[in-house]
Amino acid sequence: MPDVNLAVNLAGVTLKNPIVVASGTFGFGREYSRFYDLGELGGICAKGLTLHPREGNPAPRIAETPMGILNSVGLQNPGVDAFIREELPFLRQFDVKVIANISGNTPEEYGVMCEMLADAGVDLIEVNISCPNVKAGGLAYGTRPELAAEVTETAKAHAGNVPVMVKLSPNVTDIAQIAKAAEAAGADVLSLINTLRGMRIDTKTRRPVLKMNTGGLSGPAVLPVAVRMVWEVAQAVRVPILGMGGVSKGEDAAQLMLAGASAVAVGTACFADPFAPLKVRDELAALAAEQKLSAISQLTGEVKPW
Ligand SMILES: Cc1cc2nc3c(=O)[nH]c(=O)nc-3n(C[C@H](O)[C@H](O)[C@H](O)COP(=O)(O)O)c2cc1C
Repeated sequence: MPDVNLAVNLAGVTLKNPIVVASGTFGFGREYSRFYDLGELGGICAKGLTLHPREGNPAPRIAETPMGILNSVGLQNPGVDAFIREELPFLRQFDVKVIANISGNTPEEYGVMCEMLADAGVDLIEVNISCPNVKAGGLAYGTRPELAAEVTETAKAHAGNVPVMVKLSPNVTDIAQIAKAAEAAGADVLSLINTLRGMRIDTKTRRPVLKMNTGGLSGPAVLPVAVRMVWEVAQAVRVPILGMGGVSKGEDAAQLMLAGASAVAVGTACFADPFAPLKVRDELAALAAEQKLSAISQLTGEVKPW
């Protein structure tokens, strides 16, 4: 089979292949580094960081669902300082792009974290806007164009030369509208989708299975939603897209790229199989070779809608 050029570009950041691992599903890479060289990946989205360390939510906080999982981990993390001190030097040993993922309670918190991470030299900053805005009564930033724009603007103002990737929430009526607001506010890249809010109930105890009652759905069940949303966003913006949601095969990644993604993240699939991202990469390369493509980027946005 002919060689396919797997390199892709996200706002000036070149990934050697389009496969990234999704935030919160790969920790800071330490556990996975026992299985393979992390330099095999295009990029690593580190576990979501907050300004201060967080314990996360009470257990149970993961539940299986048909073709997916629900989680309410609640951003358990050591804080941005500890990441920069202890985890970033570890990740820097590998020839892989490092993407820091941040969540804040206020736009100011996002700004402070961006400044710290830009100074520390991460390759990209992924701004998770699926978290509640404390000042707006707990409304998630990602559910209102003006809130999404405010966080994006603040992040951009503090990120220096490091590109800012805004991660969109699927829990909205019109994701293209939020995407446009983030792009207009300066987002260099958009990533989507985050988890879909869901719930599971134990019919014997009549209690929700998760201690937080509801959680975020991910895994193969969400792939068609992700493909649809990437397609809608790709038609509404010009910035590159990192697509994710339910990818476990090369075919899934190809669907997201055809819908408009330049690169693809693998998340929940890593839990069942640590090698899933490499399997997806190789299957995607084989699919492109079969289709006689010389570069994987030739898939991006090439869906032919009826
Ligand atoms: C256990 C778990 C923790 C997650 N933590 C984060 C996080 O900290 N920040 C974030 O932006 N997304 C987080 N996500 C969302 C994933 O990055 C991804 O957007 C989502 O799971 C969809 O992809 P998947 O179906 O391939 O897992 C988390 C997902 C899971 C399952």
